[in-house]
Amino acid sequence: MLSIARIKDSRVENAWRDAEEYIHQTGGKAISRSFMLCKSAHAPTWHAHSAGRHNDLVAAAALIVLGATGINVVSPMALHDIGKVSDFVRYWQEGESCSDFQQYNGHEERSAQIAIAHGLNEESQFVIRYHAMAYRCLRNPEQIFEKCGGDKDLLIKLILAFACDAYGKGWTKAQKKQRPQIAFLIYNLCNQHGLPPVVRETAVLLTLDGQR
Ligand SMILES: [Fe+2]
Repeated sequence: MLSIARIKDSRVENAWRDAEEYIHQTGGKAISRSFMLCKSAHAPTWHAHSAGRHNDLVAAAALIVLGATGINVVSPMALHDIGKVSDFVRYWQEGESCSDFQQYNGHEERSAQIAIAHGLNEESQFVIRYHAMAYRCLRNPEQIFEKCGGDKDLLIKLILAFACDAYGKGWTKAQKKQRPQIAFLIYNLCNQHGLPPVVRETAVLLTLDGQR
């Protein structure tokens, strides 16, 4: 994984090394290739890329965010979907297609637990656990700030996490509809809470960008 390799965080490297070892032990080379490369094997309604490539693109987006804003969500974003590995392996072994996003239910919590086990802090755990909240709160965006306990610094990191995640999804038909809605939610949240313009602009641009 190119972006992971550029991160130089031994906690992230160790977590992915453990995940890859688990994949090799249970599924071998074919599943490893599929986790990284196969488009159809990862929730194609919402994702244009494989699970591994998505995670890597999100880590790359976090590096862009760090350069643009000085705010660091690189390590949590590099681990944000590592909890999908066990789902992927299980469905592969059971001969299912691994293509329904609901098969990955609960992956946010599993990713957060893996991050904690590898030494990431509480704040990173929070960002990972709630990285998908934007999609779930399109109609109730006020719940996002409430979840942050009124902490604006935490809100900024969560918003940047939403943007990085969106960036790594590519442009499926469903994303063409949803990503402008996420960008609008981010724009409104930033204005409502008086967040720095650089956060708003970086997050909105990333949400509307990304590889096709
Ligand atoms: Fe993701």
